[in-house]
Amino acid sequence: MGGGGSIATMRTRLLGSLQVPAIGFGAMVLSPGVYGDIDDTRAETALKAALDAGGTHVDTSDAYGVNGHNERLVGRALKGRRDEVVLATKFGLAIPEGEPSRSHPVGYAFNELRVNADPRLIRGYAERSLRNLDTDVIDLYYLHYPDPGVPIEDVTGAMADLVRDGLIRHVGLSNVTAAQLRAAHAVHPVAAVQNEWSMWRPLDPDLLATARELGVGIVAWSPLGNGFLTGTVQSLGEGDFRHNAPRFSAENLSANNDRYAPIRTLAAMLGISPAQLALAWLLHQDEHVVTIPGSRTPAHIAENLSAADLTLHPDTLARIDEALAGFEVTGGTLL
Ligand SMILES: NC(=O)c1ccc[n+]([C@@H]2O[C@H](COP(=O)([O-])OP(=O)(O)OC[C@H]3O[C@@H](n4cnc5c(N)ncnc54)[C@H](OP(=O)(O)O)[C@@H]3O)[C@@H](O)[C@H]2O)c1
Repeated sequence: MGGGGSIATMRTRLLGSLQVPAIGFGAMVLSPGVYGDIDDTRAETALKAALDAGGTHVDTSDAYGVNGHNERLVGRALKGRRDEVVLATKFGLAIPEGEPSRSHPVGYAFNELRVNADPRLIRGYAERSLRNLDTDVIDLYYLHYPDPGVPIEDVTGAMADLVRDGLIRHVGLSNVTAAQLRAAHAVHPVAAVQNEWSMWRPLDPDLLATARELGVGIVAWSPLGNGFLTGTVQSLGEGDFRHNAPRFSAENLSANNDRYAPIRTLAAMLGISPAQLALAWLLHQDEHVVTIPGSRTPAHIAENLSAADLTLHPDTLARIDEALAGFEVTGGTLL
């Protein structure tokens, strides 16, 4: 992976039969209104820095940014480099005008997302993403959130048709339960499940066990806890979606930062950053876990990607487990 020249290579892992770097790049951060303002020049510089440092698993969605902004940006930045990259995107939240939608409850202040994964729409979603990304195939295509109005078997069947017809290479599911994964996998092999997993958001043990049993990889989203686990977030600026996340209210953020101190101290003792410890810890949870931190800042990107080379001693892992057992997060979860 990565090729020659100045491009770094990284330890890889398997999601089903799909080989990806252990740490990739989550592109959501590159659209305005997520973590504040950002322009496309800065965004493309960040994405290229990730590719150069070996973070060649790029994760986007048709719902990031307005009117496919994030996919279009990724498509432009990958010009001439498409073959270096495992390109992942998602569908089901950016619903065509005039189509109905159903509610998926979330823990953000806005309470719900609107979803539509009707099999009738799925080919159109994929074709729109292919156009936005300016590519002829999506390497890993996810259902973004389950649709309560559509059996997951039917969604997976429609995705299997896309594999058969060459629009996508691998099927992924995001934000699913163990039972949904099992049902979908019986229709078509699922390469990866993408769910939130980090030091402040455990993964459902049933989902992990089911993924292991079925040979499905896990892609951990928001592995840095939307930046919290880097230990650097003291307050939020304008245009930051974390204002919707109760864990980041001024009061909760301060309490959570206090309770996170033992992990920050441990990272300092190890001579690494809290972000690196958070990412390395995730990779030590299972050999089929990979992760996709996001950042607009090349120095942060290099710091994050270098965590793929860290080996944590069992004593360190035990100390982290102990610290996390006492880390009671205030502000609920997002899903
Ligand atoms: N499937 C889903 O439903 C879903 C939901 C959410 C996210 N995701 C995926 O997960 C990816 C990552 O999630 P995320 O962006 O929400 O959260 P994240 O990766 O946990 O955190 C990103 C935040 O951390 C900061 N950061 C990153 N590295 C840093 C470092 N070394 N030091 C200090 N600050 C650092 C970034 O700020 P700077 O820009 O300043 O570095 C940014 O504010 C997304 O891009 C998306 O692909 C998927």
